[in-house]
Amino acid sequence: MEKKIEWFKTAHVYQIYPLSFKDSNHDGIGDINGIISKLDYMKDLGIDVIWLSPVYQSPMHDNGYDISDYLKINPMFGTLEDMKNLLNQTHQKQMKLIMDLVINHTSDEHEWFKKSVAGDPKYKDYYIWRKEKTDVDSIFGGSAWTYHKQAKAYYFHLFAESQPDLNWDNQAMRKEIYDMINTWLDMGIDGFRLDVIDLIGKDIEKKIFSDGPYLEKYLEEMYHNCFEYRDIMTVGETPGLSIERSATLTADPKMGLDMVFQFSHIGLDEIPGQGKWALKKLDLLELKETFNRVQYTFYQKGWNALFLANHDQPRALTRYGSLKYPKRSAKMLMTFIYGMQGTPFVYQGEEIGMTGIKFKDIDSYKDIETKQIYDILKNQGKSIDDIMTSIDAKGRDNSRTPFQWDDSEYAGFSDVKPWIDVNPNYKYINAEQSINDKSSVYTYTKTLLTLRKRYDVFTYGDFEIYQYENTKHFSYYRTYKNTKLLIICSFTEEAIPFDLPHKHYEILLSNDENYKFKKNKMLPPYFSCILKIGD
Ligand code: GLC
Ligand code: CA
Repeated sequence: MEKKIEWFKTAHVYQIYPLSFKDSNHDGIGDINGIISKLDYMKDLGIDVIWLSPVYQSPMHDNGYDISDYLKINPMFGTLEDMKNLLNQTHQKQMKLIMDLVINHTSDEHEWFKKSVAGDPKYKDYYIWRKEKTDVDSIFGGSAWTYHKQAKAYYFHLFAESQPDLNWDNQAMRKEIYDMINTWLDMGIDGFRLDVIDLIGKDIEKKIFSDGPYLEKYLEEMYHNCFEYRDIMTVGETPGLSIERSATLTADPKMGLDMVFQFSHIGLDEIPGQGKWALKKLDLLELKETFNRVQYTFYQKGWNALFLANHDQPRALTRYGSLKYPKRSAKMLMTFIYGMQGTPFVYQGEEIGMTGIKFKDIDSYKDIETKQIYDILKNQGKSIDDIMTSIDAKGRDNSRTPFQWDDSEYAGFSDVKPWIDVNPNYKYINAEQSINDKSSVYTYTKTLLTLRKRYDVFTYGDFEIYQYENTKHFSYYRTYKNTKLLIICSFTEEAIPFDLPHKHYEILLSNDENYKFKKNKMLPPYFSCILKIGD
């Protein structure tokens, strides 16, 4: 086999959450034609690849991550023609388009599930059925087994009741999945983000769900059936996979995963073992320890995706930065994450410094996970105040509010009331403002992405933390051949002492144009810069 051209290593990816990106037909819901109208926006930012969250036919209980027909486009987003048009226009602008591949589960409205329920011999084992249930919790809360009256058995679902898990042990089912994947690839789609792909390796009897034993077997089969000989890009969402195994997996071309989203940094503001709703303050030393391990492991082998936020996570700025210094901390976080080795993923709105939302009450939240956990925690006797504190901080709707294009009503996302409330700060945080402002988060992000293309060191350099013990700033060197960068990121509202151990350097980028390094001078709050070291 020819060595694959690894264009994905220098690509910049932009994630679109279609529901909330841009509405073109006045129904308050983002759609494919809306996306087409914004291709130049992404191109201009320096994006090479667009990842589209699911647009397939779906009852939308989990906003499209519950697919009822893999080959149809959800009419709320447009038609198959629109999709082909999007693909075409994306290609014309020299960008690529990858789709979301949700194959751990389907919707319970998928034909396969209906036939499985009805006992059709071909489809019966497409899903996981048992006479007795075992003690397993689903990821959204509540049991992972639901009794189906008609089928007179329990079916297994790691997410909501309406998302039955496919039975990967079934060869005919796998074959149909591969055919479906090939249909999209033959149409010209440039690859996939594989939703919770680690879960297909699970062993139900042994109650091993993530990091399961069958993952490599199915991935390799999928590779030979779908991905081999194609010039595409794949990224696996692998929340439960260990760092070591993720790296090993992406290092082996036969696994068909060019890179993964490694999640070890994501749980650092949670009380260990208690799940995402039990909040704890982020400890910078833990963050250092985690990224140090990830960067070191993937430097040895494999490839990683760089992300702080997506449609399942709160906005990075609200989560790790400061609303007292929104622009500075947004820029600092960009520098922090995209200064590392890996493929950068920008989540829509991150580049203009969009923030999380605090809705007035539970009714304004739309997410199925949030609704479920609200009921569960309430039944456990938790106070509404405590529950809402967790939901305001970690609820997925934080990152799903409509994209803020300008300061007109509904933020230029739509001209009617959107499916979910707009963040009121659209008046001053919006793309139009950000594009025209030289000191904006947008301009900064664009420059940062340009630098990544200009200097190989971002892609290939090694990683070494400077002043590991320091609890206020997270700074690191990147070194490749003759180029050495020092990337400095302050994670605090305080001004802090900082000794620059170099005399000769060039400032490639800084979030404080006026700041000059001098002996005994303090670093301003949330300061960040990238220095090219000359000594
Ligand atoms: C992934 C998706 C998330 C979805 C879940 C179930 O984690 O990113 O949005 O709810 O899988 O498909
Ligand atoms: Ca629409």
